[in-house]
Amino acid sequence: MTILIKGGTVVNATGAVVADVLVDGEKIAALLAPGFPLDADEVIDASGKYVIPGGIDAHTHMEMPFGGTFSADSFETGTIAAAWGGTTTIIDFAVQVKGTSLLSTLDKWHGKADGNCAVDYGFHMIVSDVNDTSLKEMESCIDAGVNTFKMFMAYPGVFYATDGEILRAMQKARETGATIMMHAENGIAIDQLVAQALAQGRTDPVEHGLTRPAELEGEATSRAITLAKVTGSPLYIVHLSAAQALDAVTKARDTGQNVFAETCPQYLYLSLEDLAKPDFEGSKYVASPPLRPKEHQSELWRGLRTNDLSVVSTDHCPFCFKDQKEMGRGDFSKIPNGMPGVEHRMDLLHQGVVKGEITLERWVEICSTTPARMFGLHPRKGIVAPGADADLVVYDPSAQQVISAATHHMNVDYSAYEGMEITGKVDTVLSRGRVVVDSGGFRGATGHGKFLSRELNQYLV
Ligand code: URP
Ligand code: ZN
Ligand code: ZN
Repeated sequence: MTILIKGGTVVNATGAVVADVLVDGEKIAALLAPGFPLDADEVIDASGKYVIPGGIDAHTHMEMPFGGTFSADSFETGTIAAAWGGTTTIIDFAVQVKGTSLLSTLDKWHGKADGNCAVDYGFHMIVSDVNDTSLKEMESCIDAGVNTFKMFMAYPGVFYATDGEILRAMQKARETGATIMMHAENGIAIDQLVAQALAQGRTDPVEHGLTRPAELEGEATSRAITLAKVTGSPLYIVHLSAAQALDAVTKARDTGQNVFAETCPQYLYLSLEDLAKPDFEGSKYVASPPLRPKEHQSELWRGLRTNDLSVVSTDHCPFCFKDQKEMGRGDFSKIPNGMPGVEHRMDLLHQGVVKGEITLERWVEICSTTPARMFGLHPRKGIVAPGADADLVVYDPSAQQVISAATHHMNVDYSAYEGMEITGKVDTVLSRGRVVVDSGGFRGATGHGKFLSRELNQYLV
């Protein structure tokens, strides 16, 4: 089966060129001079549109257990929503429960995802229990294609790891070439602030933000960077939200340390004002780290331009407003932490191009090419080039759309971006050579998505 995508502007991280793209089976076969005479089984007209590598969302949580409930998207619904939004790869987090092994956790997550995904997927591993066995098991995870390990400086009693435990895991990362991913917030101090707020009768969702100040993200980020320096481990800061944390990352990178960071669309577009919405509406925006005062946003955009922030992922972790966020009415600390977003990352970041915050090529780089390299998928993913998987998005840069829960495909009853007007829209999506979304709707299939066994971080020498 061959498909010719004709007349579009192919945008890679390195530049844009008008070219036709020939797909043969699951792979890109050739980039051709526009109009090069060639017969194909199917022709897609991309005139006036971009042809970009499929988005890679390196931070999602499908069916994630959290606070006595599960995030509302299954691997099936979440990957279909991803496809609608031009994301053709997700990397989700397997979650080790204390007292269980990493390998049984990995088996469990394969049990949830295998055969149920509409686009390709990989896993990171959340390490909640650092001991001799789990440290040894990190090696087996790496052999099984999972070489990125998330740890938490937040959530004492649940996922929290002490500095000593983090140090040990980082030593293992240094030894094996793995990368430690860090949720950097000072959870011990935060828990005190939360208890004090509740004791004073401050129970509204906005307190979630007020009890997790930006300084405590900055402090934890600096501490993680120090531990990484002492051990020689690469470090990837997840969901960075605060200027103080960015400052720490920038300084470390300036000294040549292997420190990388991602931010998320919610920190670029939403703020503490959303968390302060009345009638418990603020609960829709409860995620950790919390939304910050607006001043942080321009710093984050700057970080994206300077590459101190290298990746934008969604941290997609949806909980329904009606049944799930409700659990924290009267006690903000019981609101399940997380927000939906996997469907809108490509659009929201394209909006950054429209607003002049980032270039077109940088859009592709932070949403696809860098995640591919950071998480060992390049050049199979993240590039429009012969030999790469035909994960392709035809994107219409001038189409207008309004984001709404009424039209999105995520299995959640609200949109964090309700009513937001976006210039640009996904037109057609191919996942490994198969058209999964076009004007006719979703044409993919549950189970089409394959597990990606990943190489090590390709930014490390
Ligand atoms: O609030 C969030 N971010 N929920 C998902 C879990 C995590 O910490 O990434
Ligand atoms: Zn986290
Ligand atoms: Zn997360």
